[in-house]
Amino acid sequence: MIIIKTEQEIEMMKEAGKLLASVHKEIAKMIRPGISTYEIDQFVEEYLKKHNATAEQKGYMGYEYATCASINDEICHGFPRREPLKDGDIVGIDMVVNLDGWLADSAWTYGVGNISQEAQRLLDVTKKSLYLGIEQSVIGNRIGDISHAIQSYVEAEGFSVVRDFVGHGIGKNIHEDPQVPHFGRPGRGQRLIEGMVFTIEPMINIGEYGCTMDDNKWTARTIDGQLSAQYEHTIAITKDGPIILTDQEDSQE
Ligand code: MF3
Ligand code: CO
Repeated sequence: MIIIKTEQEIEMMKEAGKLLASVHKEIAKMIRPGISTYEIDQFVEEYLKKHNATAEQKGYMGYEYATCASINDEICHGFPRREPLKDGDIVGIDMVVNLDGWLADSAWTYGVGNISQEAQRLLDVTKKSLYLGIEQSVIGNRIGDISHAIQSYVEAEGFSVVRDFVGHGIGKNIHEDPQVPHFGRPGRGQRLIEGMVFTIEPMINIGEYGCTMDDNKWTARTIDGQLSAQYEHTIAITKDGPIILTDQEDSQE
């Protein structure tokens, strides 16, 4: 069941989203060889506390951290760790902010120091695929239009789309209906209506799309050991088109 949000509720989610966007902008300033994802995780938890918000992922289904930090061949749900990041790594930081009971979810992938041209192209293509998906997020379109826009672009660029994890509705709960796959056929699936709020969060691999699960039962990594990247925004469907609730352009420093 899809829980439709009122304009006021979307405003509340936008406040959570703005705060989340400002966290990502802080992380962008911190990322460098030598810092650990554990330090970043601690920073995020403190920062959210200071802003009267909480990290929704901590405690969610037994997850123990404020953020997911997925390095190189890790696709998603990497655990923050004390081992420092190295020059040339890429790291996806994903988090869900709870502000006054309303949630926003956004992931961003950062290059550490100097990254390879291929890694940079992966980041560029993954980010652009997210925005192509957002462009399709208009009333009257269907979920499949978002999925198809992402998949067709990514595959034309020679990369692959992860199948095992999808975007999702969000509101007072992290995971609501509908599911938003990043692969699929245009004109299929749920029709988009005003007041829907969901994430689009393509995970894109340089090599094969398959993944394996770590022994920790959380972390997914690429089956072939090649790099994976992810960008994620929380989107509201409105009469005036999609609103990016976690937009980093309009959040304050
Ligand atoms: N932020 C994640 C998503 O995009 C949710 C992660 S669940 C957690 O769906 F438990 F790992 F935090
Ligand atoms: Co997320």
